[in-house]
Amino acid sequence: MAMSASGRTLEALPDRSPRRYFIRTFGCQMNAHDSERLAGVFEADGMVAASGVDDADVVVLNTCCIRENADNKLYGTLGHLKSLKDRRPGLQIAVGGCLAQKDREVIRRRAPWVDAVWGTHNVDRSAALLAVAAQSGPVTEILEEAQADAAAFPSALPVRREQAWAAWITIQVGCDNKCAFCIVPAVRGREISRPFAAVVAEVDQLAAVGTVEVTLLGQNVNSYGRDLTTALRSDPDWRDRSATTGTAWAADERPRARPLFAELLRAVAGVEGVRRVRYTSPHPKDLRRETVAAMAEEPAICEQLHLPLQSGSDPVLAGMHRGYTAARYLEKLAMARAGIADLGVTTDIIVGFPGETDADFARTLEVVAEARYDGAYTFIYSPRPGTDAARQPERFVAPDVAAERFERLKVVVERSALAAHSARVGRVEEVLVEGRSKRDAAMITGRTRQGKLVHFPSDRPVPAGAFAQVLVTRGAPHFLVGELVEVTAMPRHRTRIPVATV
Ligand code: 5AD
Ligand code: SF4
Repeated sequence: MAMSASGRTLEALPDRSPRRYFIRTFGCQMNAHDSERLAGVFEADGMVAASGVDDADVVVLNTCCIRENADNKLYGTLGHLKSLKDRRPGLQIAVGGCLAQKDREVIRRRAPWVDAVWGTHNVDRSAALLAVAAQSGPVTEILEEAQADAAAFPSALPVRREQAWAAWITIQVGCDNKCAFCIVPAVRGREISRPFAAVVAEVDQLAAVGTVEVTLLGQNVNSYGRDLTTALRSDPDWRDRSATTGTAWAADERPRARPLFAELLRAVAGVEGVRRVRYTSPHPKDLRRETVAAMAEEPAICEQLHLPLQSGSDPVLAGMHRGYTAARYLEKLAMARAGIADLGVTTDIIVGFPGETDADFARTLEVVAEARYDGAYTFIYSPRPGTDAARQPERFVAPDVAAERFERLKVVVERSALAAHSARVGRVEEVLVEGRSKRDAAMITGRTRQGKLVHFPSDRPVPAGAFAQVLVTRGAPHFLVGELVEVTAMPRHRTRIPVATV
């Protein structure tokens, strides 16, 4: 029988098998990345990943509240989890993220079996809150604001990445815009940029372990750094602050407030080993020539632009407080296309914004056709409590009208995507392999530099993280089909990036 140093038998010690967590993520890439950070916090606390809810001791729902159906999904899922908890009382259930930030105590009122609720600014407290809940019952902890200098800033947390060859990197949290439909500023707070050198250092670390693709994340990436330079303008030592702002700003003639996104893109693209840099999302009103120039000149920056249009009608854009007209948007897009050869362009569009008329919608269809999108995420307007647009119920568009517009828009978007994709038939594209296709195990799936999904058959395995040349043989609205020409590089990443604190 094994004895411990204290002389007690090991059998007498309490069960020390690590607790298992399972995180279900709703919503955008920012949320998916927050889940990676959550996983990092849990693993630093000694927990291990479960394979699903059935073998988990802790289930976390990382929530989204951008549209109303996100609420419905959350409460539906919590209903299922209740019956699981009735059978396994030791199970802990937690709700984090944007909907938690918005609904707070409402969650535990509607679902009293939830053990812990945390918001968007205190992911770092997640493991501690679970411990408090285990000791003394359910807890809710929501902070009003991100603390710029504290560990609460998501980039300062440990991270357990889902994929080792590609990584998301938060460069900015929050949003200072006030789009009339959008709840993000209310749940993510004001814009805070992460220091320049911290972003580059994270990319350096990732590249050193073989990550080849990075995606920079922010709600409005083109304004990255404006808060940093604004804060330093009155600092007598502003030239010494290149770790915060990058060297280009520190070499300026005078300390101006200005965005640093183009410089950050260039710095990240210059990291040895990084072959692909993407970013999401820019705001059309802030898309600058400098950013287009960086994309054109730096080979690692992918020819991909996600430029949310939202509507093609000027009165609707004004009502949305978007800060541009359709003509100005198209000018910006023309500038990007003129500067960057073979640019893939996608967008977001909302139909049925309050007050949208048939003529407004017809204008959206025209602009969509003119923009020649490679794809679009389309949404029916969903009123979000507390936002400007939600205060005008008398202007709401009837649901059947909105649904019909949505279907018509989808047809126009798919036609444009199919045309863009069919035009690629016969080209050989560089594909970064993601693995076997989920739908058809005989196919390998990867993405082109423009971010397009490509499926191609292969009888031998091509590992995730490898680069391949693929001849495009068919275009469909949402993907390309091709034939493998050759595998040009095998993965460099370690199979699992250890939990790292950056
Ligand atoms: N209703 C419908 N769509 C919305 N989006 C944001 N808020 C709403 C809303 N209230 C869409 C926008 C945004 C994308 C992430 O979600 O198109 O760009
Ligand atoms: Fe929302 Fe507008 Fe900010 Fe995007 S830019 S997060 S749509 S408020």
